Amino acid sequence: MKVLVVGSGGREHAIVWKIAQSSQVEKIYCAPGNAGISQLAECVPIGAMEFDKLADFAETEKIDLTVIGMDDPLVGGVVDVFEARGLRVFGPRKNAAILEGSKAFSKDLMKKYNIPTAAYETFDNPQEALEYLETAPMPIVLKADGLALGKGVLICQTLEEARDGVKELMEDKKFGSAGDRIVVEEFMTGREVSVLSFVDGKTIKIMTSAQDHKRAGDGDTGLNTGGMGTFSPSPFYTKEVDDFCKKYIYQATVDAMAKEGREFKGIIFFGLMLTEKGPRVLEYNARFGDPETQVVLPRMKNDIVEVFQACVDGRLDEINLEFEDNAAVCVVLASAGYPVHYEKGLPISGLENFQDKDGYYVFHAGTKFAEDGKTFLTNGGRVLGVTALGKDLKEARANAYQAAEWVSFDNKYMRHDIGKAIDEA
Ligand code: AMP
Ligand code: GLY
Repeated sequence: MKVLVVGSGGREHAIVWKIAQSSQVEKIYCAPGNAGISQLAECVPIGAMEFDKLADFAETEKIDLTVIGMDDPLVGGVVDVFEARGLRVFGPRKNAAILEGSKAFSKDLMKKYNIPTAAYETFDNPQEALEYLETAPMPIVLKADGLALGKGVLICQTLEEARDGVKELMEDKKFGSAGDRIVVEEFMTGREVSVLSFVDGKTIKIMTSAQDHKRAGDGDTGLNTGGMGTFSPSPFYTKEVDDFCKKYIYQATVDAMAKEGREFKGIIFFGLMLTEKGPRVLEYNARFGDPETQVVLPRMKNDIVEVFQACVDGRLDEINLEFEDNAAVCVVLASAGYPVHYEKGLPISGLENFQDKDGYYVFHAGTKFAEDGKTFLTNGGRVLGVTALGKDLKEARANAYQAAEWVSFDNKYMRHDIGKAIDEA
């Protein structure tokens, strides 16, 4: 069969890499893809938001299955466009992708169906938000309702910071219309865990747990980024946590969406916080996490295309999802200055070191080819994700940091403490 993947980052490289192992697949396309992805898939120059062009391509090339990697096209309704044209596609429809697309929606859903999450209030009017904040306990969390590249969350320590936050989101419109409405949320503390799952509308199958490192600097300092590294499994995701989430969160979310007439098919990413009072949902995403995917998929035993197909057909209950009893760590190699100002177009060397090395992978987040069509150049803030497996997290971490040295480019930057938290487990 022929498969099309939509997206262009490390997540999509990992998805393409996993699809390439399926015995059912003869050809993979990726729109728009990147230089690394082009080693496994034919990249086609169509943007992820060009829904009609993507559907035209799928129709002309007789694509058997399209997999949407990114949030924006899902929230924008790309799946509805494909389905209206009779094209087979993996991902939630627009009315279900709202689970990620609107924080107010997801909070209201959790409240209505008693899914554990932080207490909150929603505001459309900055004046009312400001009045509420006057007597609210600090610290407090402000969230832009809509998609804001993962940056629309402000943790405010003081009333003054919270007032500035309301101005930034609702009046200065730092994230555009995403800030027309905000959620003001109780501040919680605890460890964060990411849990990815496959969903077919009724059945949910949990993958394994992972943890992201969102801040740019060592010791969780500096600005928020798209993610500087991950590890899987999380040693803090215990059997007790799993039992709680199975009872109160996972199936409850899928059932709630179905009851609301918003049947969810695709990936649900649960961003959890393990608080003293038990696990709480921080956020939902309607797609694979990045860079969580780079540590989760290398540990997955199943043929991923079979799982995608089962989700689309509503027979996920037939699938036995299995993961290796090992661990993986991913260290992101970025360009110094990310996430603010950084150079692009710098030559990358050493990628050949990953060839034929079992248990070591390099997923490309932002790369392109030089004019010679051979030399890899940096083309983004996050450039590569270096993933290594190990029998346990310690071994995987040592392997990943060793492999991170195999590649070089000017201004290469990485965190040196990815997975350090496991020492406390
Ligand atoms: P979100 O996009 O909702 O996951 O928020 C981004 C990050 O902000 C999370 O990964 C947490 O580190 C932090 N965060 C979000 N909500 C809260 C909360 N209620 N209490 C404390 N931290 C939070
Ligand atoms: N790693 C967090 C995300 O994909 O949103």
